[in-house]
Amino acid sequence: MKILVVGGGGREHAIVWRLINNPAGEARKIYCAPGNAGIAQIAECVPISATDTETLLDFAVREKIDYTIIGMDEPLALGIVNAFNGKGLRVFGPVREAAKLEWSKSFAKAFMRKYGIPTASCEVFNEYGTALSYIKNAGKWPVVIKADGLAVGKGVYICKDAAEAGKALSELMLDKKFGGSGAEVVIEEFLEGPETTLLAFSDGKTVVPMLSSMDYKKALNGDKGPNTGGMGAICPSPYYTAELQDLIYKNIVLPTQNGLAAENIEFKGILYFGLMFTKNGPYVIEYNARFGDPETQAVLPLLKTDLLEICFACSNGTLDKVKIKWHNDMNAVCVVVASGGYPGEFGRGYPVNGLDKINENAGNIMIFHAGTQKSNEGEGLLTNGGRVLGVTATGQNQEEAARRAYAAVSNITFQNMHNRTDIGEITSDKSLVNNL
Ligand code: AMP
Ligand code: GLY
Repeated sequence: MKILVVGGGGREHAIVWRLINNPAGEARKIYCAPGNAGIAQIAECVPISATDTETLLDFAVREKIDYTIIGMDEPLALGIVNAFNGKGLRVFGPVREAAKLEWSKSFAKAFMRKYGIPTASCEVFNEYGTALSYIKNAGKWPVVIKADGLAVGKGVYICKDAAEAGKALSELMLDKKFGGSGAEVVIEEFLEGPETTLLAFSDGKTVVPMLSSMDYKKALNGDKGPNTGGMGAICPSPYYTAELQDLIYKNIVLPTQNGLAAENIEFKGILYFGLMFTKNGPYVIEYNARFGDPETQAVLPLLKTDLLEICFACSNGTLDKVKIKWHNDMNAVCVVVASGGYPGEFGRGYPVNGLDKINENAGNIMIFHAGTQKSNEGEGLLTNGGRVLGVTATGQNQEEAARRAYAAVSNITFQNMHNRTDIGEITSDKSLVNNL
């Protein structure tokens, strides 16, 4: 069995690790494009960009790849699944038309409105002048301004007044900070409450939620500082109570499944529900069409069933036949170790030390690489990105998992290293949820 995983971050490392560490102990040949230095320790990395669909197709044909799993958002938006399907190659992920739930926020918003899925109310603009006059007359602050398209998790502006909103609009629509992604903007109502990620498998008919998780998006402790791709994650989310689980299934997951069917959109892959628990109940902040990063690094270590078997079932439309089992009695905490300065400017190429002091053999610590590369001179490891590593630990409870993760992180050093020290602590107001 030859498998190709497309992407090169911590999420893809976790996917590759989970495929290799499968319950049956089945040997699998895994390729990863482009991968990173950590993935290279357990799989064969191929230097092809995740967005270079043609070269990836050629590689898959030439190497007789049996199955390709797409980790990242951008290739999905470019239609990599359509291209692989077109050549008769087996592939995991939604086609471009289904991934639109992620790559067009205005499309996702219209979909949610049509199918009664709770989400912030919004207006969509494709003209700077009209958007500007709309915010000048906005009666309520803050407002949230979002680039319609993909923006590496950075296209969301929470603006407390007209001056901030004007600046956001001009960055997105005039300066084109995120290129074509900002040609259209969504201006939406500001919501408040704790957030939770719900990842779900989908085979085009059935949507099956995984364990819940939570992403710590802000750069600094106490949810301060700028938004990042995610500075840590926990699984499960303490906010996702049994009561809310039923409510979310009934009001969000099922209407999404039915809405997709009604629109004739066959969504095969991972549906990501970004949820916020507001005082009016759970709302969808966003959909994504792939595994979350770093949520995956906390969720997959608790999956018992073979990930490959589940992916096959999604592709084949037989998800209802698979009993997906989890370590329900355990918790996982992933601490992201980042380059100082991230999500702004940061240096690269700093030697990473101390990983050899961490014992991964005990089975409760996993080091997932994100931005790393091998040094040219020797076997050393160098930083090569904003998020460098994700250190995940499992435990009998959240505290134990967090303690283990931070004990492992304490071994790691590199120049300008930065990590939050409060991953696994809940900083938001839990009473909000209890009062629902
Ligand atoms: P997104 O990229 O859409 O996930 O947004 C990034 C983050 O911005 C979310 O995780 C929220 O913390 C915040 N956010 C997005 N939309 C809203 C909203 N309508 N109200 C309040 N916060 C929001
Ligand atoms: N962790 C947020 C995302 O993957 O979009």
